[in-house]
Amino acid sequence: MNHFLELVERTLKPLANQYVPEGSTPEAVIHQWVHAIAQNRPLYAAQRGVDAQQIINALKVAGAYEQESHFKAALTQHLPIKPPTHGGFSFIDLFAGIGGMRIGFQQAGGTCVFSSEFEKNAQETYFSNHGDFPFGDITKIPVEDIPDHDVLIGGFPCQPFSHAGLKLGIGDTRGTLFHNIAKIIEMKRPKVALLENVKGLISHDKGYTLQVILRTLTSIGYSCNIDRKIIASGTPKQLQDEAKKMVLRSVDFGVPQNRQRIYIVLWQDGLTEKFEYPLPTHSTTRVGDILEESPDEKYTISDRLWDGHQRRKENNKVNGKGFGFGIVNSESPYTNTISARYYKDGSEILIEQEGKNPRKLTPREAANLQGFPREFIYSKSNVQAYKQFGNSVSVPVIKALSKSIFEQFLRNHDESASKP
Ligand SMILES: C[S@@+](CC[C@H](N)C(=O)[O-])C[C@H]1O[C@@H](n2cnc3c(N)ncnc32)[C@H](O)[C@@H]1O
Repeated sequence: MNHFLELVERTLKPLANQYVPEGSTPEAVIHQWVHAIAQNRPLYAAQRGVDAQQIINALKVAGAYEQESHFKAALTQHLPIKPPTHGGFSFIDLFAGIGGMRIGFQQAGGTCVFSSEFEKNAQETYFSNHGDFPFGDITKIPVEDIPDHDVLIGGFPCQPFSHAGLKLGIGDTRGTLFHNIAKIIEMKRPKVALLENVKGLISHDKGYTLQVILRTLTSIGYSCNIDRKIIASGTPKQLQDEAKKMVLRSVDFGVPQNRQRIYIVLWQDGLTEKFEYPLPTHSTTRVGDILEESPDEKYTISDRLWDGHQRRKENNKVNGKGFGFGIVNSESPYTNTISARYYKDGSEILIEQEGKNPRKLTPREAANLQGFPREFIYSKSNVQAYKQFGNSVSVPVIKALSKSIFEQFLRNHDESASKP
């Protein structure tokens, strides 16, 4: 860490300690404050009287703030992933992982004003790249302390809801992570929310999970592309057919990966009738484009692993069970989806090699496959790097979505939600 940030942290720690939620660190509070000040955005816990001038005064006394422009430059000059310098819209990054969604939103001009992620290794990768240590467990954060924002983004873990005696209001989702998202939306009222999830959400619990999510959000004044009547009383099949239109494939946005995810875009009732999802770019993709020139030999899989993969594939064929491993070469148009378990045996994506066993992707190639910029610093632990990229998003898909969100909801609209 650089001296400047050390000085800032030392100076603000006593004040920050008063506002740290359970499960978060003072650094999360401090980083939110200083980035918000540099970007003229709302501060964490502003409702409880935290004030930009009070913080600037403390930093001035400590010699960490002379001029606004120097302060801004000192905060961002060493960052691999830089925030936009001015204007734009604000967003919060929930279930943030390593900030793949954040990168896509920043590329479309958005400024992140709050982030939450509770896994320690992901938090560290997030900090190395964005200079912002995320807040921890979202269930422990007082909603009123979260700064106002235009867009809420979150790729939340999919959990079943109780079936018992439901009125299908927000109270019925209690005890799930979705409940925390819904509470933030209800209280902070962002213009737009983008919820990302696995495609399996559509059929999860026979469509009931998706129905509860959409009914809850409709009940608090948000709309999406699915007609309210279908959400309230349509058949599961009708709801699922509509939800499938919210699925985007990474390979359609320029990265050679067959990742399919549902992206639910919701907006405050009345802002628009329909959201136009971004259209495929129709660029040709080739696995060779994300591969490194001369990867280390250690990525070639052992005879034992390769035999195991082949044996399982044979058995699966006989039992009519799935396909087993996936193998591609540099001319293939795309790979299977990289998942968080890729580090285990690499079975979903193996790269053919002449005259030897296939190999796994290197962490750099996993980053490329998700469309992360070259400057992105990934974890030094390969296991963590694969897990983090597998859990993350394809950045170009998020960039396309955030551009569409900006153009349809935020450009030329009143920007009051972004101001402190
Ligand atoms: C599918 S990942 C999202 C990754 C992210 N979109 C990215 O680009 O890296 C979901 C993340 O939610 C985090 N998470 C789960 N429960 C949480 C909680 N209660 N509070 C904060 N983060 C949580 C997990 O640690 C995981 O990193």
